[in-house]
Amino acid sequence: MSSLHEWQPAGPEDKRSPCPALNSLANHGYLPRDGRDITPEQLEKVLQRQLNFSWFTSFMLTRLSFLVIGKTLAGKLDLDDLYKHNAIEHDASLTRNDFALGGSHQVNPKLIDHLLSFNVDGKIGVESLSKYRINRIKDSEESNKDFKYGFNQRNSGSFEISLLLSTLGSETNRIVDVKNVDVFLRKEGFPEGWEKAKNAITIPYLFSTFRKAHKLLKENEKKEA
Ligand code: HEM
Repeated sequence: MSSLHEWQPAGPEDKRSPCPALNSLANHGYLPRDGRDITPEQLEKVLQRQLNFSWFTSFMLTRLSFLVIGKTLAGKLDLDDLYKHNAIEHDASLTRNDFALGGSHQVNPKLIDHLLSFNVDGKIGVESLSKYRINRIKDSEESNKDFKYGFNQRNSGSFEISLLLSTLGSETNRIVDVKNVDVFLRKEGFPEGWEKAKNAITIPYLFSTFRKAHKLLKENEKKEA
């Protein structure tokens, strides 16, 4: 990574989002470091160049995200626009407390410690993340009277598991070293030595891990019912 793209934490006036990937891209200066005025075209190109998401995947992700948070496609995004609750942002996140519990804007290091404890032999895969997500859902059910969990949240939760593993683990069968997950989620940066996918990340590629996570979440809900 060139010094131009050295990791730097956000400054006090910089905007960040609830997404570790977009924050990492801003912390490395691939997205504007101030996190402001990002167009769909700009975000699409960054996903293509820096993460090797296919053109179509990048196009769909960016356009749908803009529309879901209520922006027009001619509009610009500040990263903190993504905190809009129950648009894309949802409860039982991997790294942040629920909205009603007052912590959705900051990474909670204790949650990350807990997530990492689900590793198997120092590695995190779809089973580890799905089990941890199930645990988060139980916690939210018990502690958050405003907890909302349904079709959209289950889909987003499964899709984020897939995004993480497909991006960080594209070259390692979608299984990622604990230390790389730690850097990505806690520091919000790309781990040293990590390289983007050699083959473009496509929608079917993302869906294959999405389906596994979704199945595990669904099975658990049936057991609970
Ligand atoms: C247009 C591009 C993207 C947008 C607008 C976006 C937006 C978001 C938002 C709003 C959340 C918060 C969900 C929550 O409340 O938990 C989120 C979470 C997440 N995103 Fe992104 N994202 C994008 C691309 C990506 C990419 C390329 C990755 C690849 C690694 C990624 C990985 C994640 C992960 C792992 C989470 C879960 C974080 C957590 O639960 O604490 N996202 N994203």
